[in-house]
Amino acid sequence: EKGEYRHFMEKEIHEQPDSVQHTLSEYLDLVTGAAKPQAVDFAALDRIQIVACGTAFYAGQIARYAFEKLAGLPCDVEIASEFRYRSPAVSPRTLAVAVSQSGETADTLASLTWCKAQGLKTAAVVNVHSSSMAREAEVLWPTHAGPEIGVASTKAFTAQVAALLALAVAAGVARGRIDAATESELVKALFESPRLIADALRMGDSIRAVVQDLAKADDVLFLGRGAMFPLAMEGALKLKEISYIHAEGYAAGELKHGPIALIDEETPTIALAPLDDMFEKTASNLQEVAARGGPVIMITPERAPDLHGAGIRRIHAPDCHPLIAPLVYAVPVQLLAYYTAVQKGTDVDQPRNLAKSVTVE
Ligand code: F6R
Repeated sequence: EKGEYRHFMEKEIHEQPDSVQHTLSEYLDLVTGAAKPQAVDFAALDRIQIVACGTAFYAGQIARYAFEKLAGLPCDVEIASEFRYRSPAVSPRTLAVAVSQSGETADTLASLTWCKAQGLKTAAVVNVHSSSMAREAEVLWPTHAGPEIGVASTKAFTAQVAALLALAVAAGVARGRIDAATESELVKALFESPRLIADALRMGDSIRAVVQDLAKADDVLFLGRGAMFPLAMEGALKLKEISYIHAEGYAAGELKHGPIALIDEETPTIALAPLDDMFEKTASNLQEVAARGGPVIMITPERAPDLHGAGIRRIHAPDCHPLIAPLVYAVPVQLLAYYTAVQKGTDVDQPRNLAKSVTVE
């Protein structure tokens, strides 16, 4: 039941401190500050191949940054509907990982089955633990988001990201890339995310203050760098799905290679700008947007330097360890889509033309 909330989506957004906490506890030990040993021998792998659709695909893309950086493990991420039909070349020491809320998405399941038939090791990050993918994969990596009713995925997404980030730490330890001190620092950072997600949920008022402008837009651009790039694409997907506003997520560094042509007074840019080592680069991209008259909404910590660009509005997000920024910044991204849809009066939980689970192609 929805309880005090207007929509399941709103309720599910607010459940994220708990769903992320439960999911992290599956993979990490809060008391010892260690990643739990896994059934997969990460040291014996030379590649990870993630296959997924939609929001789960973006969770996979976020994970790629962590698997490569923390574990030195090459990681490919592909949309399952492409992967399954293009006869991909896979090396034998590849772990295939299907990521799915339902565990029933036809293309993802078919990709997993194909990988298994190739003799690859297989794992599934799924939220429905009795699903077809959970049964098909050799290793089940559960998320603990609980049932997700809203068609637009929210808490299942952050649970997928949490599980995959925790697994990337485990892989880094297993491959000798992370020492004990770093392991406990990263585990601690991950366990701080439920509290910071709860802080981010308090951004509702400042987000509501910008959605009137957003709801009038025909096109919205989401920008980010690093793991904020796939989150920008997820933000664009959420906005499209429930508010029916056309939106695109781009890597901020790609702006000059095309999308800057879209910038005008009517096209808002939402920037995901945590204070990481890419902040200055993202900031200079935003100044370019502002200089061309494009309204910018910058989601950034309060202590981030001012950009002195006319037309740059800031929404303050909790400051956090860069590893968990995709979990914390997922919240304002979801709330932006949610409040914009509410402002437009669309059917938030049952958007037009969409099904919760795509079990046919
Ligand atoms: C977006 C959304 C879809 C799903 C996609 C995969 O809000 O819900 O893009 O993420 O259909 O579904 P699962 O994760 O069940 O495989």
